[in-house]
Amino acid sequence: MPFLSTAPPGGRDGQPQITPLNILGIESSCDETAAAVVADGRRILSSVVASQIEVHHRYGGVVPELASRAHIEAMVPVVREALRHSGIAAENIQGVAVTQGPGLVGCLLVGFCFAKAFAYARGLPWVGVDHLAGHLSSVLLSDDPPDFPYVALLASGGHTGVYYVQSPLQAELLGQTRDDAAGEAYDKVAKMLGLGYPGGAVIDQLASRGNADSIAFTRPYLEKDRFDFSFSGLKTAVHRYLQTHPDAIQTQQADVAAAFQAAVVDVLIHKLLHAAAIKKCSKAAVVGGVAANTGLRRRLHADAARRGIQVYIPDISLCGDNAAMIAATGFHLLKSGSTSTIDTDVYSRNTRPETLRTRV
Ligand code: KG4
Ligand code: ZN
Repeated sequence: MPFLSTAPPGGRDGQPQITPLNILGIESSCDETAAAVVADGRRILSSVVASQIEVHHRYGGVVPELASRAHIEAMVPVVREALRHSGIAAENIQGVAVTQGPGLVGCLLVGFCFAKAFAYARGLPWVGVDHLAGHLSSVLLSDDPPDFPYVALLASGGHTGVYYVQSPLQAELLGQTRDDAAGEAYDKVAKMLGLGYPGGAVIDQLASRGNADSIAFTRPYLEKDRFDFSFSGLKTAVHRYLQTHPDAIQTQQADVAAAFQAAVVDVLIHKLLHAAAIKKCSKAAVVGGVAANTGLRRRLHADAARRGIQVYIPDISLCGDNAAMIAATGFHLLKSGSTSTIDTDVYSRNTRPETLRTRV
C-alpha cells in the first residue's frame, strides 16, 4: 500500500510523493556499527548496535583505521539483524537514512556506501543525515516526546552544544565547546585515573561513591550568560591535582571523579537552563552519550522542576550512537522531499555549525 505524503507535490514531474513509512537507518560515524528500522519517524521496530569498545580499549581511544575495518566486518550482519528484529521484510522498507557526517571519514564511508548500494539495488529513496541532527531527534523516539520548540543540550564524545530546536529539521546552535567535548573530557580524566576507555560510565559509577566537595575544581562557565563551553581547563586542573597529590589515584580516586563530575554537571545544567530562560521555553532535552550520566540526570530533574521546566532525556539505549535516531531524522527529510544522489559525499566536520539546517 503506498503512503501518500501530506507535503506538497515535490517530485520532478509534479506527482505526489510517496512518503516512506519504514525507514532503515545506518550509523557508522565513529566506533559503533548500528542499524535500525523506524516506522513513521517515531516507532522503533528494531535497533541494533555493535560496539567496537573491545577493539579500541587497549589503545585508550578510537583508532580510525581499525574502526573502519570493524565497520566493514559488522555492517552486513548488523543490518541483517535489524531487519530480522523489525519483523518486516526488506521489501517493506520504504527509504534509507544514513549518517553523512560529522565523523571519521573512513568509518562514514562504510555506512554510506552500504546505504547507497542497498537503496539503489532496491530502487529506494535514500538520504544522508547529519549525526548531530540525529542526536537531537533521539528524544522524539520516546513515548512522551516534547512538543516543539525545546532547548537541547547535546553532549557526546565529539560534540557539546546548546540548541534551540524548532522542528526535526531545524535547530539553532546557541553555543558550543571551544575545545574538548564533555564526553572527551570524561574519557581523558578516566585515562588519567587509570580507568581505561571509554571513561564516561566508569567515572559516573565511581563518582557516586566519592565526595564531590572534597576538591574544589573551578567551574568553567566562561561568560555565564553565553552558551559556549570549555572543558580543557578543567581537564588540566584534574591533571595538576593528580601531579601534586601523587597518592590521589590510590586514596582519592572516587573523590576526584565526583569533584570532576560535579564541575561538568554544574556547567552543563547552568547553560541548558539559562537557554530555556532566554528562549522562554518550558521544555529542555539532553541528548548524546553524556545524557546517560546519572549525576546529570538526577541534578537536572531537580533543578528544572524548581523552575517549572519539563525535562526530556532519551532512554539510555538512545543516548549513545544508534541508528534509530538517524532513521527518525531521515524520515522527516525524505518526507520533506530531500533525497541524496549517487555523487553525494560524506563530511568529517560540521562545516557550518550555526545551524543544522544546512545539511537538510
Ligand atoms: O554519543 P556518543 O555515543 O558518541 C559520540 O557521538 O561522541 O558519546 C560517547 C561519549 C563518550 O565520551 C563516553 O565517555 C560518554 O559519551 N559517556 C558518558 C556516560 N556514558 C557515556 N559520559 C558521562 N557519563 C556517562 N554515564
Ligand atoms: Zn554521537
